[in-house]
Amino acid sequence: MARKKITLIGGGQIGGNLALLAAQKELGDVVIFDIPQSEGMVKGKALDLMQLGPHEGYDSNITGSADWNDVKGTDVFIITAGIPRKPGMNREDLLEINLGIMKDVAKNIKVNAPDAFVIVISNPLDAMVYAFHKVSGFKKNQVVGMAGALDSGRFRAFIAMETGYSVQDVTCMVLGGHGDTMVPISRLATVGGVPVTDLIQPERLKEIEDRTRVAGGEIVKLFGNGSAFYAPAQSAIEMAESFLRDKKRVIPCASLCEGEFGINGYFIGVPTVIGSGGVEKILEFTLDDNEKNELKKTLTAVKHTVAETGL
Ligand code: APR
Repeated sequence: MARKKITLIGGGQIGGNLALLAAQKELGDVVIFDIPQSEGMVKGKALDLMQLGPHEGYDSNITGSADWNDVKGTDVFIITAGIPRKPGMNREDLLEINLGIMKDVAKNIKVNAPDAFVIVISNPLDAMVYAFHKVSGFKKNQVVGMAGALDSGRFRAFIAMETGYSVQDVTCMVLGGHGDTMVPISRLATVGGVPVTDLIQPERLKEIEDRTRVAGGEIVKLFGNGSAFYAPAQSAIEMAESFLRDKKRVIPCASLCEGEFGINGYFIGVPTVIGSGGVEKILEFTLDDNEKNELKKTLTAVKHTVAETGL
């Protein structure tokens, strides 16, 4: 079987880690694509990763490029092109610059790899994935945003840190937009099947939910000059792997809702089945009244940001 081709649009902090993880998992050959000014940087990263191959034992071919011709034949794109946050910025503050970049990227992907599956990471995520979908005209199953996987992972990490139990056994779901209005569904969080609501006091659980909502900002503040990259990269790789290996994992992703959860025409975090068909299904379930209200609020926030794209 021919190797799959994974192209990373944007070879910065997240892009470099995506390339490393894709190679370590031998998901396929990897192209790290960036703007001409960063061509040397991505070519250098690609060579460095080729030279890690002998130690890790992977045979993935990793190349750097600033030439759109090199993305032809791509099976899955992961897009991080854009600028990250600086302290004091919301994800929404990135909209103007990153929207221009996303439009350009969408046009070029449409021309060069019209059948590919596309995972968007650039922020503000819910608006960027919407913009990619609008401008490319790709089918809804071909386009998804990475946010819920990361936010749920953050919630899981905090619950493991709080309880002292293995993070492997913590399951959580965070729905909604990738911003401060995201909705951690504590009611369904468990540690090894035991409800988290039976393990952590309500006030403390509320604090953990709040920390989850601003977890990205906590890291931005600490870094001073960029945003998180290890966990975002791994979260997107899990989505890419589920597509490439037809695993049909159920991951909270920003998927285009057409009636699910009463949402129509917006990409927002919902439990999503990812397999060889891309976004194969959104798993709808019954929310309680409080969760319904929270989802309404987050949808309002997403609509507001999407409206700013003018698309
Ligand atoms: N095409 C390809 N790459 C581009 C383009 C473009 N049109 N414009 C910018 N880039 C590249 C930059 O040159 C840079 O190498 O995107 C890369 C972004 O990398 P970083 O600045 O290191 O940012 P990173 O931390 O990887 O985050 C990228 O993901 O989580 C979001 O908020 C984050 O929007 C940000 C994005």
